[in-house]
Amino acid sequence: MANPVERMANPVEIRTLTSSDEFPEWLRAVSTGFFRGPTVGEKEVAARALGTELDRIQGAYDGGRCVGTFRTLRQSLTVPGGAVLPACAVSGVTVSPTHRRRGLLSRMMANALGAAKERGEVCASLIAAEYPIYGRYGFGPATWTTEWEVLIARTGLDRRYAGPADLGDGGRVDLVDAAEFRAQMPAVHERFRTGAQRQGAIDRDGKWWRTATGDLRFPDDGFTPAFHAVYRDADGQPQGGVTYTSDDVWQAKQPEQTVTVRDLFATTAAGEAALWRFVLAMDWVLRVRTGCRAPDDVLPLLLPDPRAARTVTHADWLWIRPLDVPRMLAARSYAVEGSLVLEVRDKDGYAGGRFKLEAAGPEGGAQCAATREDPELSLDVAELGALFLGDESAVRLAALGRLAEHREGAAERAEVLFRTARRPWCQDVF
Ligand SMILES: CC(C)(COP(=O)(O)OP(=O)(O)OC[C@H]1O[C@@H](n2cnc3c(N)ncnc32)[C@H](O)[C@@H]1OP(=O)(O)O)[C@@H](O)C(=O)NCCC(=O)NCCS
Repeated sequence: MANPVERMANPVEIRTLTSSDEFPEWLRAVSTGFFRGPTVGEKEVAARALGTELDRIQGAYDGGRCVGTFRTLRQSLTVPGGAVLPACAVSGVTVSPTHRRRGLLSRMMANALGAAKERGEVCASLIAAEYPIYGRYGFGPATWTTEWEVLIARTGLDRRYAGPADLGDGGRVDLVDAAEFRAQMPAVHERFRTGAQRQGAIDRDGKWWRTATGDLRFPDDGFTPAFHAVYRDADGQPQGGVTYTSDDVWQAKQPEQTVTVRDLFATTAAGEAALWRFVLAMDWVLRVRTGCRAPDDVLPLLLPDPRAARTVTHADWLWIRPLDVPRMLAARSYAVEGSLVLEVRDKDGYAGGRFKLEAAGPEGGAQCAATREDPELSLDVAELGALFLGDESAVRLAALGRLAEHREGAAERAEVLFRTARRPWCQDVF
């Protein structure tokens, strides 16, 4: 523990970057904090600098050395019903091992949430390295993710199945190179994420697609070139795609490949099933690892024996921190007509208050505004973050004592209002 007198003599300064010349030292600190390595090469700096906004990047400085990092990104978040909201995505959070537990993260978080609120971003989002860090700042786990490993021999799938030729829906799957995938898939993904299929989806910019397809690289970036395939419907329109790698393992003259899916999405159920069937039908493949999917992905039930898909990871994924409750709640759709008066507590003062939600049912939109009516439910802002995309259960939170009912049955009403038919899914890391 540092001597408190020393600390006062050398206070750590926290500020946003003022010049791109400061970016390499900032990135060196990120790399150290994430145990990636003590130095960062020029090509990595150039690649990671693309698209950065200096006034969204904070550094904590002790003397000339950067000892803490925090950045935010503009993000577009899909909510139930398909509307998109401006969110403040938090990323690159590190504090040097020499400066931990002295409140640096808390100071950077306060700056970032204050700035997001001023910019009119309705919530903040992040993917937490460790569960216990962010609840204290008003974030709640809003989406979960599941990864399966499928043992092909146990699936009961007929190995004589011919793959795409057997789809029966007039569609087809074609292998394409990285450049074609990069050219075709951004538009499909835009339709996917705004098409009300899956709340929790986030936008992917040009840099995302270049990185994902190996067009933006730097030495030791850990990238493995992948295979890409596109699903086209009977009219020849691209409706989905898959990116996968294979490890090329052979044992005793037998092929024992593991295929790992890096990305798979489609705008139609037929496209999604076709892409899975394509991946599962490849010769030489012993097992398929699915990558991070929605917990209610169709995959296991596509198999004659769903137990052939073994869960290897199930964990919280996207965390949401409400900043503007009326805008958030009015933007999403609700499965039924109903109203609810919520008392939201926010010790940091960004989003608290008493609000009345009035939902007109699945097609009718919703309104939400401050009210003086008696509250029916009260909860912390982090719990509202967990409920927002429809994945958490209000009744479960009430059972845990994290949500208080002031009118009998209010938690059940919230349950019916907030829950969604399909679970939210954020497929990306940021
Ligand atoms: C997580 C990390 C950024 C925290 O930074 P920090 O400056 O030590 O955090 P603070 O001193 O502001 O801590 C604020 C509070 O959070 C708690 N906290 C911080 N990190 C925590 C952790 N990993 N687990 C549990 N509690 C944690 C602190 O104990 C403190 O609690 P208190 O308010 O009750 O005293 C830092 O430990 C780190 O760089 N870890 C490795 C990289 C990482 O995990 N980054 C996050 C990526 S999403």
